[in-house]
Amino acid sequence: MPATKATPKELLPVIDTPLIQYAIEEARDAGVERMIFVSHPSKSAIERHVRDDVGLREMLRGRGKTGLEQRLKDAAIDEQRHDVVFVMQDEPLGLGHAVLLAHEHVLPGPVAVILPDDLILGGRGCLAEMIDAYASCDSGHLVAAMDVDPETVSSYGILSPLTQEGAFVKSNAIVEKPSVDEAPSNSAVVGRYILHPDIFDALSTQEAGAGGEIQLTDAIARGIAEIGLSGFRFSGIRFDCGSKRGMLAAALHIARRDPDLAPVLSEFLDSAEPGRSDRFFAADKTVA
Ligand code: G1P
Repeated sequence: MPATKATPKELLPVIDTPLIQYAIEEARDAGVERMIFVSHPSKSAIERHVRDDVGLREMLRGRGKTGLEQRLKDAAIDEQRHDVVFVMQDEPLGLGHAVLLAHEHVLPGPVAVILPDDLILGGRGCLAEMIDAYASCDSGHLVAAMDVDPETVSSYGILSPLTQEGAFVKSNAIVEKPSVDEAPSNSAVVGRYILHPDIFDALSTQEAGAGGEIQLTDAIARGIAEIGLSGFRFSGIRFDCGSKRGMLAAALHIARRDPDLAPVLSEFLDSAEPGRSDRFFAADKTVA
C-alpha cells in the first residue's frame, strides 16, 4: 500500500514487466498446458493483461508501432496452445482454499502452483527445473526451498529436513509460519509447488490454520506419510516482491544486465562514489 490500493499486486511491474507476466513465462517455459488463474472480481485488470487484445494490437500496427505490437503478441498467452481459465476466489480464505478452487479445472496428474509475488530470476526457469527434477524424485509433493534468515521463519512454510541429496531436501514435516523458537529449521518454502493430485482430497477437508486461513502447507503436511515431501533447491535467485526491498532488488538485478539501463545505474553509483560501479558490476558476475 498504497501501490496496491487500486492495482492488483500481480500487475506491479519490475521495470516494465508485471509480476504475473514473469509467472506466465515461467509456466510457458516449463511446458504447462493449462493455466488456471485464481483471482478476485476486483482484480479484473489481471485478465485484461493475460488475454490477447487483438483490437489494441491492430491499432498499434495501424500506427506503424510494429515493435510494440510484437511485444504484446509475445507476452499474451496463445490460447490455441494453452488453455486459460479464470476462477474467482470471492473471499480471502487462504492459499489452500485458492488451490482447491482450481480443482475442477485441473488436468489429470501432478499440479504446479506459482505464487507470482515470489519472483525467481536467473538459472533455468524454476518451474521447468522442478518439473524435470520431479521425474527423478520419489516424493509426491515437491516444494521450492531456500535457507532464510532464522529471524524471518515466521513468514514462511518451514520444512523439517531429514536428508539432503543433491538438490532434494527430503522432509518429514512442514509447518506454516512457526515462531522462531518452534521452527524445525530455516529451510523455507517459496512460491513454487508440484503437488500430487491427492492434495485436493486433503484440501477439501482442511480446517483453517495459521491466520485463520486454509493453508496449503497444512494439507501438504497431512499427506507426508503416504505421499512424501521434498524441498527442491532451485538455481535461480528469489525476490520477495511482496516487499519494497524485494521489488527494488529485483529491479536492480534486471537493470544491471540490461544494456540500456546499466549505464543509468553506473552513473548513479559513480555520482555517489567514483569507481563504485566497477565493484557493483564485478559483484554481479558472482551471482550471474
Ligand atoms: C505463502 C505460503 C508459505 C510460503 C510463502 C512463500 O505465504 O503460505 O508457506 O512460505 O507463501 O512466499 P504468504 O507469503 O502468502 O503469506
